[in-house]
Amino acid sequence: MKIKPFQLERFYTLYEFNTEYSLCNSDSEAMSIRDLLALEEGGSEKFQDHWLGYTDTKGALDLRKEITAIYEQVKVDDLLVCSGAQEPIFLFSQAILEPEDEVIVQFPCYQSMHSIPESIGCKVFNWKVQYEGDEPRFNLEDLKAMITNKTKAIYLNTPHNPTGFHFTKEEQLEIVNLARERGIFIFSDEVYRELEHEEKYLIPGIVDVYENGVSLGVMSKSYGLPGLRIGWLACRNPKVLEKVAILKEYTTICNAGPSEFLAGLALRNRKKLLSRNLAIIKENLPLLDRFFAKHSHLFSWYRPHAGPIAWVKMNFEESNPGFVERVIHEKKVLLLPGEIYDQSGFFRIGFGRKKMPEALVQFEEFVVDNLL
Ligand SMILES: Cc1ncc(COP(=O)(O)O)c(C=O)c1O
Repeated sequence: MKIKPFQLERFYTLYEFNTEYSLCNSDSEAMSIRDLLALEEGGSEKFQDHWLGYTDTKGALDLRKEITAIYEQVKVDDLLVCSGAQEPIFLFSQAILEPEDEVIVQFPCYQSMHSIPESIGCKVFNWKVQYEGDEPRFNLEDLKAMITNKTKAIYLNTPHNPTGFHFTKEEQLEIVNLARERGIFIFSDEVYRELEHEEKYLIPGIVDVYENGVSLGVMSKSYGLPGLRIGWLACRNPKVLEKVAILKEYTTICNAGPSEFLAGLALRNRKKLLSRNLAIIKENLPLLDRFFAKHSHLFSWYRPHAGPIAWVKMNFEESNPGFVERVIHEKKVLLLPGEIYDQSGFFRIGFGRKKMPEALVQFEEFVVDNLL
């Protein structure tokens, strides 16, 4: 089956770089190469001297050493460095899935986790979010009921895009036990891991608790460096990584050496980056709390405990053109419409960037002028 166009990127292609205010980004505030290099004495000189040859297909050894520090059990040979997080979702799915396999995906989801298995000919079952009070939840009994002897993989995303939901350690272990009984792979998109608003919400990477678990990490989100295009798969089953590596030789072969150097430096200093990025989130979130408390008759606000995004429900009928389109055209503020996730009546809001407060002021003007 032909793969469906990637809705989110189609939308961003139209609006991301020509809309003045952004209120929906899913990453943390980025930084310049100069500022990144300044985190380490002599960083700039070393970068200038970095060799521009091919690098190891698995990822430069120095970088893989830094990545192992994010996990408990992971060794350098349990890692495959890739281009961003998008390439490894594609490659893992192509390497592991066969037509007619069944796949379970948390829903709504980052579209690749759904559309790629679908394009391979898999049957994709949506494990749907439910709202209990003001908390998004994924019910484990629902998951249990969806598993059959044809289930090949469960695709998780925790912390979750777009709801900001995250599993607890206990829930994660229950899912692992369900998967282990039948040898099901768990592909866990953990691109927002380490950006929990409080440490108590941090749970292990799936790779540390399940021998057939694959953790997906990336520099783009928690660490705020999407321009590096460096991501990775961590997996203790060498056969899985080998299958993915064989496909990677047809896509990118190896990664950009300068990006690997910069990613290694960033990860050596990741605690500094994380506290900078969390500080921005913690400044921005109370502004959203205030905004949504003031306009609670219009919007349902589900405050996340992790990551830089939330999923907001609109409690009013949308007109034509839709709400998000009107906000873009009248106030030059970018929100992400729920339709991107096949969920009308919602929009995604992002609060990981420094300029979020300015965007919120514009958005509030729109709300006051048009909805009150
Ligand atoms: C949940 C999730 N997974 C994967 C990706 C892809 O990340 P990247 O752009 O670094 O390839 C994104 C990007 O928005 C994401 O939100």
